[in-house]
Amino acid sequence: MDGKSDSNEGLFLTLEGDDGVGKSTQADLLAAWLEKRGHGVLRVHEPGGTRLGEKIRTLLLDKDDDAMAPLAELLLFEAARAQVMSEVIEPALARGEVVVCDRFTDSTLAYQGYGRELGAELVRATNDLACGGRYPTRTLLLALDPSVARERVEDRSTDGTGDRMESAGDAFRARLRAGFDEIAAAEPQRVHVIDANGSVAQVHERICADIADLLGGRDE
Ligand code: TYD
Repeated sequence: MDGKSDSNEGLFLTLEGDDGVGKSTQADLLAAWLEKRGHGVLRVHEPGGTRLGEKIRTLLLDKDDDAMAPLAELLLFEAARAQVMSEVIEPALARGEVVVCDRFTDSTLAYQGYGRELGAELVRATNDLACGGRYPTRTLLLALDPSVARERVEDRSTDGTGDRMESAGDAFRARLRAGFDEIAAAEPQRVHVIDANGSVAQVHERICADIADLLGGRDE
């Protein structure tokens, strides 16, 4: 899929993957690495990144809300996205910054399209609407042994099941992982699969190698 692009604009990078694969840690490390190389960096996560988006995030992750309809869930994720695009991401790209975003449209496709079985066509359409046709330059899909990812989610939550999204069942998780695989296969130029097994430092090195390549081919 071709997104908006303008060579004077910043670079839009996203990290994706199942819960517990280490995206947030790696996004922080990548942002610091880019800053050290002299780039202006905006680090953001989805859903959230704005006042409104953080409120929507609270609604979405609330485990007591076990009656949320899949379509309502999809539209809430997209509403948070529309806000962070217009308030935070587009302005940063216009300033020439590198945006490092923890989850984006591919999460919606994998979780709501495949996981909740709303279908890829509907989710592609709502994604397009919410992001205004602005897709990442490069997406790093962190791939980790599912049992290791599961253990991490259980370890970091108080009751061993995680938030509303993390506590969806095994069949849901299998579908969303298959969704990510399909996304990577469909757009191999944009979506690069990164082996997320090993130490934090090892995974960080793999990510830096990938992004150094991208920067080298672009402006350095
Ligand atoms: P978060 O705590 O950000 O997840 P993690 O730290 O594991 O990356 O919680 C976001 C949850 O919302 C996560 O389970 C993935 C899910 N999600 C969707 O289902 N659809 C989406 O469009 C996005 C952005 C996230």
